[in-house]
Amino acid sequence: MGPQKTGTTALYTYLKMNPIFKSSSPSAQDFEEVQFFNNKHYFKGVDWYFSRFTDGESETIFYDKSATYFDDPQAARRASALLPDAHIVILLVDPADRAYSWYQHIKAHSDSTANSVSFEQVITFKDFGYQDEKSKALRALRNRCLHPGYYSQHLSKWLEFYHPRQIIIIDGLWFKHNPASVMKRLQLLLGVREPLDYEKRLVFSEWKGFFCQLVEPTTEGNGTEHVKCLGQSKGRKYPPMSKEARNLLNRHYWPHNRQLARLLIDIGLPLPTWMDDAMSLDGLRASVIY
Ligand code: A3P
Repeated sequence: MGPQKTGTTALYTYLKMNPIFKSSSPSAQDFEEVQFFNNKHYFKGVDWYFSRFTDGESETIFYDKSATYFDDPQAARRASALLPDAHIVILLVDPADRAYSWYQHIKAHSDSTANSVSFEQVITFKDFGYQDEKSKALRALRNRCLHPGYYSQHLSKWLEFYHPRQIIIIDGLWFKHNPASVMKRLQLLLGVREPLDYEKRLVFSEWKGFFCQLVEPTTEGNGTEHVKCLGQSKGRKYPPMSKEARNLLNRHYWPHNRQLARLLIDIGLPLPTWMDDAMSLDGLRASVIY
């Protein structure tokens, strides 16, 4: 489900490595994402949606990776109406890191507003309700940057429509550093009969700074085993977030993160490893009883 910039493409790619998983067929328009439940494609209807998933066998587990579903107000209701038995997989990283990664992503896509302001200006934009073009563009940018990170709010929506047992939360920081262990657990939770041993198929690339696939000679036919990483738009190189921005965002997200902690405890799920750092304010670790 997303949210965007949490490692969804890495997860999509790793799943594909086990032939039991089959993604929707990619399109020229949306690449790997169907984005059915959250946008205009919805009105193309159910047959259109299912036509994106073909050639399955009895064991096949189909998946739709659309990172825009998580924070969409309609997606949970629509998805549960059509797919009440689905598993919902959500990746969560520190929302401050997510916001920064998203800002870098949108800048790299030559967004003129993002390229005219600093990250600090985006996150501190004060909304006085001005309706001039610049204020409107900045407001929209700030919202798109910050809103997906209100995890508790969005997760509550999914929990209105799906049983907690159907919701699989992946700690995105853990996933980044230990993808093989996450994939092992995920396959177990999904009841995969022939799990792939990702320990043998994912290797850390010093050059990329992330885990990459070890492609066997037979898979792509070039005769040698080689390492295949995600493209340059995933795992971008950019300067670290300023301390000022980090503190501002920790403060901003603090109530949302606390609410998330409560929600996860309520449904019996462990807290993500990034949570303590995300809840430290101005360098002081807040001693929080979640
Ligand atoms: P950055 O490019 O900001 O580092 P998404 O696929 O949802 O858009 O998420 C992109 C993020 O996935 C990247 O953000 C990166 O931090 C993270 N990621 C996790 N595992 C990765 C991997 N194996 N290769 C590249 N990026 C990975």
